[in-house]
Amino acid sequence: MGKILFASTNESKFNEIFLYLKSFNIEIEFVRFGTLEIQSNKLEEIALQKSKEAFEKIGRPLIVEDTGLFIDSLNGFPGPYSSYVLKTIGNQGILDLLLNSADRSALFRSVVVYKDNNNDMIFSGDTRGTISDHITEGGWGYDPIFIPEGSSISYGQLGIASKMGISHRTHALNNFAKWYCGNYSIK
Ligand code: IMP
Repeated sequence: MGKILFASTNESKFNEIFLYLKSFNIEIEFVRFGTLEIQSNKLEEIALQKSKEAFEKIGRPLIVEDTGLFIDSLNGFPGPYSSYVLKTIGNQGILDLLLNSADRSALFRSVVVYKDNNNDMIFSGDTRGTISDHITEGGWGYDPIFIPEGSSISYGQLGIASKMGISHRTHALNNFAKWYCGNYSIK
């Protein structure tokens, strides 16, 4: 099998995906691809649309990935709007919103779409956790404020290898890799 392209503008995601899929002998190559995200409440719809646009342009087997951080006491906000919210109010804005909240539980969800000539496959993965009370060191995006269940430190503090042991993206990628290896025999 040839390499699968990862269509994204986010190299931090690529590093994680590359590292994890390497353990399945699945080779990934980064291709910079940005698009105007459609407005939808569903990560799946956003990711599917992105994969369609990328495939129309690139015409080779590819994956795209979309993530959302769903905070329980904010009724799932920012969810599919996570990117816009990080750009506007940032991690400090999220902490401010939770200032008087006893419930800091949250869910990170990753949706991976694999697309080629014959397949539009959707895989998802979740990791539950809590939002920290301050911005910690390390990582990228929301990593400095998300403490995964079973850990006392944030994704950021865990570092890439430990984060990839438990992350939402890992769960989604694991589902993808099992399907891919079952359908395209990889040594
Ligand atoms: P998107 O999938 O790139 O749209 O991600 C939505 C937002 O969540 C962006 O602001 C990302 O920086 C952030 N994000 C995505 N994945 C992660 C992650 O694994 N850790 C922390 N932040 C993330």
